[in-house]
Amino acid sequence: MSNEKRTRIVDLLRSTDVDREVVVKGWVRTKRGNKNVAFVAMNDGSTINNIQVVVDVAAFDGELLRKITTGACLRVTGTLVKSLGSGQPVEVQAREIEIYGEADPESYPLQKKGHSLEFLREIAYLRPRTNTFGAVLRIRHAMAYAIHKYFNDRGFYYLHTPLITASDCEGAGAMFNVTTLDLNNVPRTPEGEVDYAQDFFGKPCNLTVSGQLEGELGALALSQIYTFGPTFRAENSNTPRHLAEFWMVEPEVAFNDLEDNMELAEDFLKYLVRYALEHCQDDLQFLNKMFDEGLLERLKFITDNDFVRLDYTEGVKILQESGEKFEFPCDWGCDLQSEHERYLVERHFKKPVILINYPKDIKAFYMKQNDDGRTVRAMDVLFPKIGEIIGGSEREADYAKLNARVEELGMNKESIWWYLDTRRFGSAPHSGFGLGFERLLLFVTGMANIRDVIPFPRTPKNAEF
Ligand code: 4AD
Ligand code: MG
Repeated sequence: MSNEKRTRIVDLLRSTDVDREVVVKGWVRTKRGNKNVAFVAMNDGSTINNIQVVVDVAAFDGELLRKITTGACLRVTGTLVKSLGSGQPVEVQAREIEIYGEADPESYPLQKKGHSLEFLREIAYLRPRTNTFGAVLRIRHAMAYAIHKYFNDRGFYYLHTPLITASDCEGAGAMFNVTTLDLNNVPRTPEGEVDYAQDFFGKPCNLTVSGQLEGELGALALSQIYTFGPTFRAENSNTPRHLAEFWMVEPEVAFNDLEDNMELAEDFLKYLVRYALEHCQDDLQFLNKMFDEGLLERLKFITDNDFVRLDYTEGVKILQESGEKFEFPCDWGCDLQSEHERYLVERHFKKPVILINYPKDIKAFYMKQNDDGRTVRAMDVLFPKIGEIIGGSEREADYAKLNARVEELGMNKESIWWYLDTRRFGSAPHSGFGLGFERLLLFVTGMANIRDVIPFPRTPKNAEF
């Protein structure tokens, strides 16, 4: 029994080779029928579609049939036949059924009726078994694969940057500490400070907010690299677009300027959306029908349009002249809120926008300084419904300028001496950006809340499962 061949449901449904014996394994979605025949819809996660198993009631033990309830896991051996019903091309006529695991209908939380996304978040350990999360998780996989394929096909190297660091890339201070000190009995220096010399790493460390700084070290040797891994931010923002643990994709390219960086970002995003349209049709159709009727159209909108490239200063002018009542009014120097970003994309240009040359005071220390003395060569890519999906820049490659900025900001040089050193030893112009993987998935799946595009979301006061 252990070496019998299971056929995945996706392959069965595609098969034209009927009237042969097959083995199906999966979870029961529904059972219906009458006293003569039962129809069991089974799903194994390989596709949004179920296979229908037809059971001749007289040929099976009544006790066994009673245990076939929503959520139970089965092995069915039977004949694959052309289906007479209209719902499916083929079905399985059951000859033998084994129940791997029952699911008591009194307590199994997922029933036939649809459940709200809020409820499903509370039972995130079971939600992969729903149509919606099956679709989202398959698309998530397809996008991860496409990201690696995109970069590999273009000669980028996948660089593994550390998750534990002693530096703060973004300087936003939103970091999770990593320590093995006993919090009930913290060692102190004579001055009364926490004595990190006694900590595991001998100094304060945190979970990384971005792999960029180490990514730059890779780019200044391998020319073009990317990272793709988890990042962590302890910002207390309970929004539908923020997670405390999210995945980020960060390409970094030596010899690229801001123009090249914009081109890479646009080409990359279009490639990913096209890949989803080509490889995830069934799941996208389902999500389009169930959650977001504009989804497919919005995806094509990305592949078919050139992105607008615009100076921050111009963007602010457009917002001010729009006559729109924003919750947060915006003057030059303000950090744009998602309401502003979405206005530019959805209402004004009706195209994706790349906003560049932001005020230096609202951007990170490493960005290349413009000659005007007040802006930097930053770029944010803004998408409909999402707002910022990518943040990036050309990097400051000049040691004196970078050093001056680090001092101006009062940053701790001890934690980034090695980063500054790269500007002393073979520095080169270079650029890169970070794509929030879950922001991409929000866009591609049409889901409205970022908690619903990652298997187990981490948000303030929530680390269940
Ligand atoms: O704009 P950010 O903060 O840029 C960086 O971290 C740079 N070091 C990237 C680089 O140039 N290599 O973050 C990049 C992207 C954002 O545009 C957004 O898509 C996503 O990461 N992001 C988040 N996604 C989910 N939850 C959060 N809390 C996020 N914060 C940023
Ligand atoms: Mg940003």
